[in-house]
Amino acid sequence: MFRFNKFHSNAFLIIILVLLLSSACKKKPVPEKVPAPTPYTITIPKGFPTNFVIPPDNPMTVEGVKLGHYLYYDGRLSGKADEGKPQTCASCHIQSHSFENGVGRGVGTNGNLTHNVMLPHVNLLWNPGTFGWNGSVPSIEDDVKETVVSPTEFASTPEKVVSAIKAIPMYPPMFKAAFGTSEVTMDRIAKAIAQFVRTEISSDSKFDRYIRGEEQLTASERNGLVLFTTEEGADCFHCHGGVGNPLMTTNLFYNNAKDSVFNTNDDRYSVTGLTSDIGAYKATTLRNIELTGPYMHDGRFQTLDDVINFYSSGLVYSKYANPLMHKLNPPYGHGAELNPQQKADLKAFLLTLTDTTFTHNPKLANPF
Ligand code: HEC
Ligand code: HEC
Repeated sequence: MFRFNKFHSNAFLIIILVLLLSSACKKKPVPEKVPAPTPYTITIPKGFPTNFVIPPDNPMTVEGVKLGHYLYYDGRLSGKADEGKPQTCASCHIQSHSFENGVGRGVGTNGNLTHNVMLPHVNLLWNPGTFGWNGSVPSIEDDVKETVVSPTEFASTPEKVVSAIKAIPMYPPMFKAAFGTSEVTMDRIAKAIAQFVRTEISSDSKFDRYIRGEEQLTASERNGLVLFTTEEGADCFHCHGGVGNPLMTTNLFYNNAKDSVFNTNDDRYSVTGLTSDIGAYKATTLRNIELTGPYMHDGRFQTLDDVINFYSSGLVYSKYANPLMHKLNPPYGHGAELNPQQKADLKAFLLTLTDTTFTHNPKLANPF
């Protein structure tokens, strides 16, 4: 019969002790505690749509936005600084130009000609997933990855980019704070930059303040607004927004009657294959339009006066012109047929879309 005597109880204790010790030796090292990143709260400006886009696999965090902010401005990002070719997003997307470059035809700092003129970074949080003039890029994250390899942009490789960023002592701890470990990957770089780009929000132009009842428009600006937002006027609002659509774009693609023959290699048709998209490009936002010439995807118009003259009397008939360009039809024919005063008024209104709070916002400026 088994009796639990002193000998047994000592042996029992020893066994427990051995077990405890051995398990203590085998125990994995306690993982170093990294505080979870702090959720970043986006403030949606008054009157702006609530259907903004943040991909579920890239939630915005304070640490992620901060990391993205530095990468966006770090010329070493291209992975080619050693070769004397530093380049980063801000080399082309310049804050004082609404994160466009505002100079000639999309010339990057390395002298490469980009195929099209630039697009600004403004309120891309609301882009439904059609980035680029023809909407071929589904997300900002994808745009970063394309920028890295594009022969007219970084002309680099993800490997070069990752190893350049990894080698800079300030970054691995920032990756750890943003993503939990200090591992630097192309995917994380793209995510962080996209988080920062989503904070590039413009909502303080004179027109915004007018809509909020904080400021009045001049008589000329008001007349321009009426022309912009009426079908009998210049009829711009169907494609470019306006009252009720402060993004100043529908983010849709139209053929706006510039030509009769079209390059179907880079238009919206090249993405969708729909004949209704032949010669169609994104109706870009008109926010900060003063700062982002030359105009149209191919930069054919140098000034806003050129653009207004085009919509007034320069429309070119083709069967692909969007039906909204109805001023191709009688009693018009070549456009809205504005008189000089109306042209001046329309231009005055377009200039109310400039947001200098945005172009001077220190939270979006070079952090270095
Ligand atoms: C060499 C100049 C250049 C550099 C550098 C550059 N871009 Fe661009 N970016 C462009 C041009 C040109 C376009 C218009 C592309 C098109 O659709 O043809 C563009 C378009 C975009 C768009 C689409 C905007 C829209 O409204 O659809 C995004 C997003 C973007 N760039 C992000 C970035 C990011 C992020 C970086 C840095 C990783 C970057 N770009 C670096 C030239 C540049
Ligand atoms: C049928 C839709 C449509 C209408 C109506 C329309 N636009 Fe456009 N607009 C576009 C498209 C599409 C583009 C870009 C076309 C391209 O690049 O080839 C554009 C481009 C522009 C640009 C240049 C944007 C840039 O970033 O280069 C300006 C400025 C502009 N439009 C102003 C106006 C004004 C002012 C009116 C009214 C007189 C107007 N638009 C009416 C569709 C339209």
